[in-house]
Amino acid sequence: MPEPTILVVDDEQLIRWSLAERLKQEGYAVVEAGTAKEALAAAGPHLDLVLLDYKLPDSDGLRVLKQIKASDPDIPVILLTAFSSIETAVEAMKQGAYHYANKPFNLDELVLVVQKALETTALRREVRTLRASVSEPYAFGRIVGDSAEMESLRGLLQRVAASPASTVLLTGESGTGKDLAAKVIHYNSDRASKPFMNITCSALPEALLESELFGHERGAFTDARQQKTGLLESAERGTVFLDEIGEMVPALQAKLLRFLEEKAFKRVGGAADIRVDVRVIAATNRDLEEAVRVGKFREDLYYRLNVMQITLPPLREHASDVPLLVKFYLDTFNREFRKHVSGASDEALALLRGYHWPGNIRELRNAVERAMLLADGEWLTPEHFPMSVSRRVTAQAFELPQEGINLESVERQLVLQALKRTHWNQTKAAALLGLNRDQIRYRVEKFGLEKETPERE
Ligand SMILES: Nc1ncnc2c1ncn2[C@@H]1O[C@H](COP(=O)(O)OP(=O)(O)OP(=O)(O)O)[C@@H](O)[C@H]1O
Ligand SMILES: [Mg+2]
Repeated sequence: MPEPTILVVDDEQLIRWSLAERLKQEGYAVVEAGTAKEALAAAGPHLDLVLLDYKLPDSDGLRVLKQIKASDPDIPVILLTAFSSIETAVEAMKQGAYHYANKPFNLDELVLVVQKALETTALRREVRTLRASVSEPYAFGRIVGDSAEMESLRGLLQRVAASPASTVLLTGESGTGKDLAAKVIHYNSDRASKPFMNITCSALPEALLESELFGHERGAFTDARQQKTGLLESAERGTVFLDEIGEMVPALQAKLLRFLEEKAFKRVGGAADIRVDVRVIAATNRDLEEAVRVGKFREDLYYRLNVMQITLPPLREHASDVPLLVKFYLDTFNREFRKHVSGASDEALALLRGYHWPGNIRELRNAVERAMLLADGEWLTPEHFPMSVSRRVTAQAFELPQEGINLESVERQLVLQALKRTHWNQTKAAALLGLNRDQIRYRVEKFGLEKETPERE
C-alpha cells in the first residue's frame, strides 16, 4: 500500500514546514497549500487526510472544509485554530470536521489524532467496498425472467424499494423467491447501507424469539444475566425480515402489531419504550387469510402487514421463464464448478418447461446444479434431470391391485389432476399425460370435466 497522503493548509510557512517535516518522518506523503485556492486545487481523491488552518488569507477554513467534504464526504479534516472558540469548534464538527486542534498544538498529540483518523477512514472505505460487493448480487436484474409476471414483480419491488418506510408482506409458495425479494428491496432502498436483519419466526421457541426480536433487560428472566439488544434495535435505520410470520404465536403477534403501529416497543422485562426506525418485511408461504379465518393469526396484524402485499408466483405460472432461469444457473454453476457446459438440449428444455415445479425456482436451481455435476459433455439432456427419471419410475409403479381397478375412473382422475395442476391449460395438461390436444379434449368431454369438478366423488 502507498503511504497515506496528507494535505497541509496553512498560510504561515513555518507552521506548514514543521507539520510537513514531522508527518514525513512518520511516513506520510505531504502536499502543502498556503491559501484556500491552492487547497481546493490540491484536493482530490488521492488525498487521505487534510490539516486545515481556520484563518486563511483568501477565505475561512470552514468554507474550505465544506467544499472538500462536498466532493469527498469520507475524508477526515482536522481544523487548526489559533484561538479557541466554542462556536467555531461546534460549527466545524457540524460541517463534518473529524477533529479540531488549538494552536499552538502539541505535535505528538496531533500525530496521534492523524493516525486514528486514517485508521477510521481506511476502515470506512473497506466497509464501503465490502458493502458494495454484498449488495451487488441484489440488483433488480437478479430477478431473472422476462415473463409479464417477472416484469411486474421487478416493477413492484422497485416502487417498494423507493418508498423508504412501508411495511411489506411477501407471500408465495416455497422457493418462489421471497428471501431474494426481501434483499432486493433492502439493498435498493436508501436503507441499503444500514443492516438487513433476518429472523425465521418458526425456528425459535416463543420466549427466545421475543428476546431476539425485542431484546431484554438484565434479570428479565433466569438466564438474562446481561442486557441484550434485540434485532429491531440492531437494525436501526435498516430492514428487519421476519420470515415465516405465519408461525408467530399470538402473544408476539400483539407485540409486533403495537410496534408496527407506534414504532415503539419494550424490551422483555423493561419498562421504557424504545423507538426505532426500521422497515419490516414479513414473509410467509402459508395462506394468512385462512390462518386469520381459523383464528391462528390476528386479523388486525394481518391488515397492518398487508398494506403492501407482493405475491411471488409459482414457477409453473411463468414457465416461459424456465429457459432464462436455466441459462442463469448454467452460467452460475459453470463459474462455480469451472465447467464449460453450453446449454440444455431442446428436449431437456421441453421437459423442464412442462414440469410442474412444486419446489419452484429453488427446485430448478437444484436440478440444474445436479445436472451439471452429472454432465460430462457439452449439453444437458433429459437423462441429467431427475424428473425424466421419476416419470419412468411412476410408469413402472402403476401396478394393478389384487382387487382390480375401474380403468375409466382412474383415467378420469388422472386427467382431472393434470388439468388442476396446470390451471386448466389443456396443452400443458396433455403434455403431463403424454397425450396431444385432441386426445385430452376428447377425454374432457367424455368425462364431462369442469373447473368445479371435485377430484374424488
Ligand atoms: N426470479 C428469480 N430469479 C433468479 N433466481 C431466483 C428467483 N427467485 C428465486 N430465485 C432463487 O431461488 C432460490 C429460492 O428462493 P428463496 O429462498 O428466495 O425462496 P423463498 O420464497 O424464500 O422460499 P421459502 O418459502 O422456502 O423460504 C434462491 O436460490 C433464489 O436466489
Ligand atoms: Mg425463504
